[in-house]
Amino acid sequence: MPDDTAGSRETSPRVILVTGGAKGIGRATCLAFLETGARVLCLDTDREAGESLLAEFSEAPSGELIFRRADVANAADCRESVQDALARWNHVDVLVNNAGIQPIDSYVPAHECSESLWDRILDVNLKSAFLMAREVLPLMDRQPEGGVILNVASVQGLQSAPLVPAYAASKGGLLSLTRQLAIDYSSAGIRVLAVNPGTIETPLVEEAAEARGIDLDQVRAEGAENHPIGRVGRPEEVARVIRFLAGPEAGFMTGEFVNVDGGLMAKGAWA
Ligand code: NAI
Repeated sequence: MPDDTAGSRETSPRVILVTGGAKGIGRATCLAFLETGARVLCLDTDREAGESLLAEFSEAPSGELIFRRADVANAADCRESVQDALARWNHVDVLVNNAGIQPIDSYVPAHECSESLWDRILDVNLKSAFLMAREVLPLMDRQPEGGVILNVASVQGLQSAPLVPAYAASKGGLLSLTRQLAIDYSSAGIRVLAVNPGTIETPLVEEAAEARGIDLDQVRAEGAENHPIGRVGRPEEVARVIRFLAGPEAGFMTGEFVNVDGGLMAKGAWA
């Protein structure tokens, strides 16, 4: 029995929506759920990456994967994507709000952050989670087995680094939204949780390194220094925690975050 199969619908695979699912942590999350035989709708703006995921998946032994090009900062795209999942599978068990951006020109002090850059980061990293949740919550409310929403926030929602005003605000907001939705929808059987990754080797981190004029080996060396575990993380290591939190074994967890950060948040700045 796959570990993400809902108890009351044992023979029917769960339906999982993953935003930003074509690359990095989102891609690993799609693949982790597919391993359990789930039906996965991957939403992403990057069609090429989505097609490459579909090609990789065609080798997989189980599950069903649909890629849909969608900008989850856009309300109509969110609505149509959820309708698409409903038309195909008639329910939605898990929403993973993973899409996020940290553009290379966003490493600036607040007074140099343009309004349009602020808006774009907040729209993709925070508003998208609200827009997607707004579509799935009424469905999950009607489902006898409820549902789960997983938000991919960041350690930067808890503590900050220099020059990331919009990104840090978006991730802090996402943790707040996680608590809020958990409180308001627990009685409907809907759990809402967040994960806070430390440095995970993904295209986002590669682009950030490029912007700083360093290569991946330097990112890995810095990560080995900063993270008590002595290395940066892999997308699969976040994906497996997401899959666990979305499953019945985490059935008494809601309104909480889990740091998947190699011990980063355990370490004091003075240590
Ligand atoms: P990534 O850049 O490697 O992948 C993100 C995916 O989201 C891409 O496929 C991109 O096309 C897609 N995307 C971007 N904007 C979108 C939109 N408006 N609509 C739909 N899809 C969109 O990023 P990564 O590293 O996998 O990050 C995933 C999440 O994890 C983000 O929310 C990020 O902030 C968070 N995170 C990542 C960390 C890391 O070290 N990689 C650390 C902490 C948090």
